[in-house]
Parts: sequence; structure tokens; C-alpha cells
Amino acid sequence: MKLAINGGKPVRKRPFPKWPPYDRSEERYLLDAFRSHNWGGFPAPNKYARLFAEKFASYHKAKYGICAANGTVTLEVALRAAGVTAGDEVIVPALTWTATALAAVYINAIPVFADIDPETYCIDPEDIEKKITKRTKAIIPVHLGSNIADMDRIMQIARKHRLVVIEDCAHAHGGFYKNKGVGSIGDFGSFSFQTSKLMTAGEGGIILTSDKEYAERCHSLVNCGRKEKGYDSFKGNMTGWNYRISDLQAAVLLGQMTRLEKETDHREKMGNYLSSKLSGFPGILLLKRDKKITKLPMYEYLFRFIEDDWYGVTRDAFVSALSAEGIPCEGDFYIPLYQNPLVWVSADDYPMIKRIYGKNILNSTKFVCPVAEHVAYHESVWLHASLFMGTKSDVDDIVRAIEKLRENIAELRDSKNIKLKSRWRKK
Ligand SMILES: Cc1ncc(COP(=O)(O)O)c(C=O)c1O
Repeated sequence: MKLAINGGKPVRKRPFPKWPPYDRSEERYLLDAFRSHNWGGFPAPNKYARLFAEKFASYHKAKYGICAANGTVTLEVALRAAGVTAGDEVIVPALTWTATALAAVYINAIPVFADIDPETYCIDPEDIEKKITKRTKAIIPVHLGSNIADMDRIMQIARKHRLVVIEDCAHAHGGFYKNKGVGSIGDFGSFSFQTSKLMTAGEGGIILTSDKEYAERCHSLVNCGRKEKGYDSFKGNMTGWNYRISDLQAAVLLGQMTRLEKETDHREKMGNYLSSKLSGFPGILLLKRDKKITKLPMYEYLFRFIEDDWYGVTRDAFVSALSAEGIPCEGDFYIPLYQNPLVWVSADDYPMIKRIYGKNILNSTKFVCPVAEHVAYHESVWLHASLFMGTKSDVDDIVRAIEKLRENIAELRDSKNIKLKSRWRKK
């Protein structure tokens, strides 16, 4: 059977379910907000922002939720609410979206990159410990793709060194670890509602915390620094910008809350089905799943492509050929942050980074994270949640496409039609 990349018939022509999904609940709440003439974020929190924040926080077992404009400012607000300030160091995983590190840069703090664990792809707690200095103030673990970071170990390290923990849950809505919702294990949880995320209002974000003073500071920080009644028991004033969410967005999110559990369970079931099919497949390894994960949030199903077992077929060629077979996927979804041009900020703008990174930019060669580099350029394969919203027959197509590539290794290795499918590297 000829590979699609060489002009053969693709395994799948049908598109996967459209993203994002919606139903009557979003429509109902959105129309209600629309017709109420009350669309904005002010007074903050507005009606739907308050209702949604309460529901979302309580679902994840946190006391407080504070909605915001996106999942970048939520990280910045959490850092500032915790008192992290210019010159402080913040440990982040090397493999994540830029915002995890740039939130620190934006407040003139210094991101320090820790490597990821080769079996889970989440931040490696042992490397966190190695990167702690007397200036370290916070850790931002990311629950990456379809996994949850080793929170027990991270919290142990944080308590020992008196560090604040902000869980970046942008990939992990509805995930549970030891029956606690993600975002309620550390001091703060930060979520994004950007278009591709497991819950979305197009844009948006939320911060979770169970600390009253932190919550009040967050309310103030997202609302221009105002100390509204009920959120005013902390000392002093905050300097805040307008980071409010609109009530139209919050209404959409409230509608989505009604399906969060059902959708999470469904994706987990489909993901587990794929794992059962790929378990033991030559040249493919599954990510290690910690038994403490009691509900798996599946934003991007990730598996490990072991180049050494593919007789000269690279991960990049595999991803290109799998996409041609009708299975949308990516390889270097993220690259190590210190190699990402979007993170190469100038020390003229953010002078504190000079101390660690030197005069010009954040791409210091000091930060070599070999696991993150290998995973980004040679190993990881990413499949978006939308592929797991349908039926087992959708997942069967993924498996059939992978089997087809495996059965035609020589054709794939020798193909002249492989196009580099990369977000970051030149085509
Ligand atoms: C891990 C991670 N952190 C933070 C963000 C930032 O979220 P937003 O795009 O809503 O600003 C994203 C999303 O793109 C993300 O994937």
C-alpha cells in the first residue's frame, strides 16, 4: 500500500470532530448575558465571571477563583500576588509555551530553566533542586500535554526551601491528582481558555487559590489595582492593569462547565484505548502515568517515537507522513525555551535577566536541558484533544495509520516527499 506522502490513498479522509465543541448550554448562557446589556468585566467580578469562578474553583477543590483576560496574565498575577518581584528567580520547565517563562520576565524576575523528566515530559523535580539558589522564590510546574507533574515531590521541595508553587494548568482543565483538582495542590493554579484549550471562550484565564489574601490580591491585580469591598483586607495597594474577562466570555465558560466532567472522562477513555493499542508497538513508547493521577486531562495525547527503532526514519519524517495519512499531529509543538526566539528578550528592556543570562538575550548556552532538546527534536508526537472527542473508530484510524507507516518503513525512509512540519524550524 503506497504511503499518502508518496501519492497513495490516505488512511483517513474524514475530518476529526470540529473544535471547540459546544451545545445549547453555551448558547443559553451567552444569549442571556448578551440580552442583559451587561457584557463587560466591570464591576469585577461581574455576574457570570463570579458564577463561573465559583463553580470552576469548587470543581477543582480550591476555595477561590479569579477570572482574567488570558492564561499569560494569570501567571503574572499569581507571581505578583505571591510577592515575587524584580531579581527573584522562578524555576520553570524548559519545554513549555513561552508564557510560563515570560510571565516572570515581564515583572523583571528571572526564569531559570529546569529539564523535564524523560518518562513523563513534566518538569524533573531533581533538576528543580539543582537549580535552586538563594534568590529562588517560585516554581511553575506545567502539567504538560496529557500528564500531571510530580506534585508530591515538587511540594516537598517547595516547602523545604520556602518557595511558592504556581501550577500552570493551561493543558489540564478537569485533571485530578490524588483526588484533588489540578491548580489546588500548589499555592496557585493558572488556567488558559485560549481557543485550543480544553475549555475555551476564545480567550480568557483563571487563577485558583485557597489562600484568602492571595485571592484578594489577585482580584485587585486583575481589576486595575482597585480594592473593592470584600476584597480589601490586605495591607497596602496593588498596582494593577485591566486584566478582566468579559461577561460574554464567562457566560460561555459557565455553559462549558456542564460538560467538563463528561468530556474529560470521554477523552480519557479514548486516550486509554489508544494507549492499549500502542502499548508494545515497535518503536513507540507511552508516557509514564503516575498512579496518583486520578483523572487524566487530555489536551494533547503525547507518545514517544524512538528513532533508534525505526531504521533511519526520523521523528520529523514520521510526523509528516502521519499527517499525510489524515491524522493531524505535530513533533516540535514546543522547543526548549532558551532556544525559542520568542523568549530572547533584551536585557535593555528587562535588566534583571542580565545577571544570569548576560547582556543581550535569554538564549544563554548555560541552560542546556538535554532531555527537553531530545524530546523536542527527536521524540515527541503530539495529537490534539479534538482527535479524542469522537468514537473508537477515530482512534482506530490513528492506529491504522501508524501501522501503515511501520509496515512501509523502507518507503518512508527513502521518500523524497517528506516536508518538515515545524512551528519553529525553517521549512
Ligand atoms: C502551558 C501554557 N501556559 C500558558 C499559556 C498562556 O495562555 P494564553 O494563551 O491564554 O495567554 C499557554 C497557552 O497558550 C500554555 O499552553
